[in-house]
Amino acid sequence: MRTRLLLAAVVVTLVAAACLRIPATRAGLSFGYAVDPAALADDAAYAGAVAADAGVVTPENHMKWSLVHPAPGTYDFAAADSIVASAAAQGQHVRGHVLVWHRQLPAWLTEREWTRAELVDVLRDHVHTVVGHFRDEFPGVVRQWDVVNEAFHADGTRRSTIWQDVIGDDYLELAFRFAHEADPDAQLFYNDFYDHGLVAAEAALEGLPSGVGATAGRSSCDDVPKCTATRSLVEGLVARDVPIHGVGFQGHVLGTAPADYRELASWVEPLGLSWAVTELDVALLTAQGSDPVALDAQADAYESIVTDCLESDACDTVVVWGVDDAHSWIPGTTGGLLGHATLRDAQGVPKPAYVRLLGLLAADDLEQGPTAGSSVGDTFG
Ligand code: G3I
Repeated sequence: MRTRLLLAAVVVTLVAAACLRIPATRAGLSFGYAVDPAALADDAAYAGAVAADAGVVTPENHMKWSLVHPAPGTYDFAAADSIVASAAAQGQHVRGHVLVWHRQLPAWLTEREWTRAELVDVLRDHVHTVVGHFRDEFPGVVRQWDVVNEAFHADGTRRSTIWQDVIGDDYLELAFRFAHEADPDAQLFYNDFYDHGLVAAEAALEGLPSGVGATAGRSSCDDVPKCTATRSLVEGLVARDVPIHGVGFQGHVLGTAPADYRELASWVEPLGLSWAVTELDVALLTAQGSDPVALDAQADAYESIVTDCLESDACDTVVVWGVDDAHSWIPGTTGGLLGHATLRDAQGVPKPAYVRLLGLLAADDLEQGPTAGSSVGDTFG
């Protein structure tokens, strides 16, 4: 009997040691995934991967306006609640995503004219209701919110959105203030992407000059117009005592030589804020899915960005945008040109990048010693 119990304990230890959650937590990192509620409920392997690896989860889509606020005054939290309930049961925290964005908005909001006063009222009601719902129903679980997403064009000018066009520049400030009113304990983030591939793709679509994003050779915020615009915005918010606590660097890397995120985010800590890698994935060409050289370069990219976070005193969160390649936004959005962007393949099998992160986090854990990191479930410090 004693031998069997011992064997069971050894097996549990080995399985846990081969997953990311425990070494990440011990290394002081809140690591996790963007998740889909249907997959969590119906796909045991997917749910198992989330349980094994994640100390934090982000609903990939199910807290966005069109899903939680489908009609005026009508809120539907069923799918988002199922994610947050599952996270709470696993001792995970949740990054709420996203309160103000220009995409995935319901037609009732976008297809009529609003006055500024009307739209401010709608925004206040939405932010108070959504943030307040999770504060009341799942106290302490949704610790962070992406309050505003992607407010700038690639050239650093304000993006033309319903919020910008109707309310004006101060919509950001209002959104942060409303979120803080609804949950004074939540950490509130501005979230955007600065990597060359995505910035250049969007710039091309908008008719702006390309070459404006961060790359391995150009990681200074000064060289990336959207980053300098973000820095000015955040400096202004801090100067006016607007409740903002962090900046999300999404991390949608197309190609395999990412910017130095520590350098790109170096302006955040002096403002007294934290930064997080909020939507990390590294896309390959579809044909490269089983190319060992490409998969190794992908592992390098993941390792580089996670190392940047580990080495920064102001970063303690990395969220990968999708649990496996079967649940990644990349193939659908790129018409099948790109894919293979997550840590597990389409069958859920860990890829070289997963193994690399496991080694990185275990080594970091060993370096820091057994008492340095926080305990599992205590992931946001
Ligand atoms: O749920 C419907 C389904 O009913 C319908 O049959 C199907 C047909 O197209 O669409 C489904 O909705 C899709 C949804 O993802 C869920 O899969 C939407 O069309 C699709 O547009 C939506 O894409 C999401 C995208 O945001 C929307 O802009 C991606 O999953 C999501 O990964 C992506 O996430 C964003 C972050 O929120 C912000 N940063 C960039 C990131 C990548 O674009």
